[in-house]
Amino acid sequence: MIDFNYYAPTQVVFGKDSESKTGSLVKQYGGTKVLLHYGGQSAVKSGLLQKVEDQLREAGIPFVTLGGVVPNPRLSKVHEGIEICRREGIDFLLAVGGGSVIDSCKAISSGRYYDGDVWTLYEHKDHATQYLPIGCILTIPAAGSEMSNGSVITNDEVDGWLKKDYCVDEFRCKFAIMNPEYTYTLPSWQTACGITDMMMHTMERYFSKDDDMEITDALAEAVLRTCMTEGHKVLENPTDYTSRAQIMWAGSLAHNDLTGCGTTGDWATHNLEHELSGMFDVSHGAGLAAMWGSWARYVRSENMSRFARFAVNVMGVKQNFRSLEETAEAGIQAMERFFESIGMPTNIHDLIGREITDAEIEEMALKCSNGGNGTIGCLKVLGCKDMAEIYKMAK
Ligand code: NZQ
Ligand code: ZN
Repeated sequence: MIDFNYYAPTQVVFGKDSESKTGSLVKQYGGTKVLLHYGGQSAVKSGLLQKVEDQLREAGIPFVTLGGVVPNPRLSKVHEGIEICRREGIDFLLAVGGGSVIDSCKAISSGRYYDGDVWTLYEHKDHATQYLPIGCILTIPAAGSEMSNGSVITNDEVDGWLKKDYCVDEFRCKFAIMNPEYTYTLPSWQTACGITDMMMHTMERYFSKDDDMEITDALAEAVLRTCMTEGHKVLENPTDYTSRAQIMWAGSLAHNDLTGCGTTGDWATHNLEHELSGMFDVSHGAGLAAMWGSWARYVRSENMSRFARFAVNVMGVKQNFRSLEETAEAGIQAMERFFESIGMPTNIHDLIGREITDAEIEEMALKCSNGGNGTIGCLKVLGCKDMAEIYKMAK
C-alpha cells in the first residue's frame, strides 16, 4: 500500500429537508455576501432555488444570483462570475446544481483574486494563492465535485474548444447539502450518466498496479456493487427515496478519495473522455461508458489478475481457473452489458450518432497528449499513439 494523505474536510448535511440549513451553514463558514450560482431550469422548476433564496433572506445574508451554467461548464460564464464577485464584494459562493455548477463556482473561486486569466490555472501554468469559500446544494449525484478537489472547465473562447481540469484542496466545498428528494426529477439519461461517472471514479482508482490495499479494494467493490443494484432500482422507480439516497452517497464516496487510499489511480479513461465531451459536447458519464471497454482491453495485460478479481468480486463472473484472461474478458463484457442495461453507449458511434473520422481521432489524441508529448495513465502509461489506438478500438 503506497503512502497517502487523506483530506476530506467537507461537512456533509444529508437527508430530507437538509436545504433548510443553508442560511446557518453559510454563516458558519463566514459568508456575508453570496453569489448564488445555478444551471438551467431544473432548480427553478423544483422550487429548490426559491427555497434557498428564502433561506438566505431569513438569515439576513444578501446575495446576487447567476444562472445559466450548462453541462461542460463554460469559461465565458466563469469570467462573468468573477466580474460579479469583484464588483459586488462577494465573499461566499453557493452552488445549487450538479458537477457543472459546482465546477463553475470553483473556477470563479480561483479567479476572484488571481491577477491573470483564470484559464492559466487550468493550463497548469500557475497556481492561485487566494480562493473564495464554496458551499453546495447537490441536485445530481454524478461528478462527485461536492467533495472532490477538482474542477473541469470548457474553454469556449478558443477555436475547437478545450476542456481542462485544475485540482487544489482549496476547491473542497466547506459544506455539501444533499437531499435525495431533489434528485427525483432527474431524467433517466442523467441518472444513468451519473451512475456511470461515479462507478468510473471508483474504477479509475481500483485499476492500479498496487495489489496490497485490501481494505480500499473491499470498499471500492462495495461502492460498485451498490451502484449497480441501486442503479437499476432508481431507474425503475425514480421516487424510491432509499435507492436515491444510496446512489447519492455513493457518488460522494466514489470521489472523495476514500476508494483511492493507498493506490496510484489511473485516470486515463477520464482523460480520453474529456476530449470527447470537449469536442462533441456529450455527457461526461456517457463518454466514459463509450471509452472504458476499449481502454480496459488495451491495458489489461499490465495487471490481468486485477481485472479477473474485478470480474469475480464486482461483476459476479465465475472464475475460469484455466484462464485469467478469459475471466478478465468476461468481466469487461459484463461491465459493458451493465452500461447498456442502463442506456449507456459502449462505443463512440453510439455516443455521437455517427462514425468518428480519423482526423477527429488524431486531433483528440494530440490534444489529450498536450500536442503529442504528454502521457496519461498509470496502470499503463499511454502516449499519443496509444490514445489514438484506443479511440480507434472504441470507434
Ligand atoms: O442545468 P439544469 O437545468 O440544472 O439541468 C441539469 C443538466 O442539464 C440536469 N439536472 C441537474 N440536477 C437535476 C437536473 N435535472 C433534473 N432534476 C435535477 N435534480 O442535469 C444535467 C447535467 O448536470 P451537470 O451538472 O452537468 O452533471 P454532472 O454532475 O454530471 O457534472 C458534469 C460535469 O462535471 C465534470 C464533468 O466533466 C462535467 O463537465 N466532472 C467534474 C469532476 C470534479 N469536479 O471532481 C469530476 C468528474 O470526473 C467530471 O469530470
Ligand atoms: Zn468523472
